[in-house]
Amino acid sequence: MTTEPPPTDTSTSPALAGRVALVTGASRGIGRGIAERLVAAGASVVNGDITGPDEAVTGCRHMPLDVTDPTSVADTLHSISTVEGRLDIVVNNAGIMFEEPLDGHDLDAWHRMVAINLTGPFLVTRAATPLLARRGGSVVNVGSIEGYSANPGHVAYGATKGGVHGMTNAMAVDLGPSGIRVNAVAPGWIDTELNASFVDRHPDRDEVVRQLAVLHPVGHIGAPSDVGDVVTWLASDAARFVTGQVITVDGGRLAKPPLPPIMG
Ligand code: NAI
Repeated sequence: MTTEPPPTDTSTSPALAGRVALVTGASRGIGRGIAERLVAAGASVVNGDITGPDEAVTGCRHMPLDVTDPTSVADTLHSISTVEGRLDIVVNNAGIMFEEPLDGHDLDAWHRMVAINLTGPFLVTRAATPLLARRGGSVVNVGSIEGYSANPGHVAYGATKGGVHGMTNAMAVDLGPSGIRVNAVAPGWIDTELNASFVDRHPDRDEVVRQLAVLHPVGHIGAPSDVGDVVTWLASDAARFVTGQVITVDGGRLAKPPLPPIMG
């Protein structure tokens, strides 16, 4: 049995007009790019970030949020309910990355990575579910291509991102009956402060950028807006029959197994 699709919208209203979105970690980087795209699509956006933005995005309200702290999460959801009166979209984007070899890996560092990257999306989605279920909402988790393959020293990071992908499936199953879709994006190399240190630590920055470009069939690394556009589509009614999916946004990097540099 199928459900009749909603009538085609022939108006010029933006896709997310009237919707309210919470984006975690939107003070900079990918979260900021997502917030900008959601605003452009007509949504009111709350940036739930532990730090404030250097420069505010128009149409995006900052609320202090630590995704690892259940009290902070509950306070933010309460504020959204009070101030905005509704919540339609949650984007679990806040995350950290560091390199630490498995041999001697600090246990506190492991717990911190898990708390922010994996427990954070769990806490935020769990707290947001009652609000999202009122109108049929959309959750988008930010995973990574490192949920599939890993850079050296990324035992904790890869574990959390693989966990985000698995959790996306499970949440889609549990929340589908409440009318809530849950998907994830798995970005590749996106130009943000999180990975700038990888580039900047090398004396010949231009050569690093050139070699990174060669890894990507599209010929360049990504920008936060590249992720923001896919998240906006997943959050919109255009993706109404899409749930439990992880969409890779990597310029084709995973599609191209690396050759030895001499043959590349
Ligand atoms: P970023 O470091 O530029 O920004 C992360 C944001 O999260 C910051 O604004 C920070 O204040 C916030 N944040 C950190 N801890 C928080 C907490 N406990 N509560 C609330 N907010 C917190 O990072 P970037 O590059 O924008 O990454 C965003 C997400 O995208 C992360 O989940 C990351 O793992 C993922 N990702 C990034 C890729 C990249 O190439 N930059 C590639 C694949 C995934």
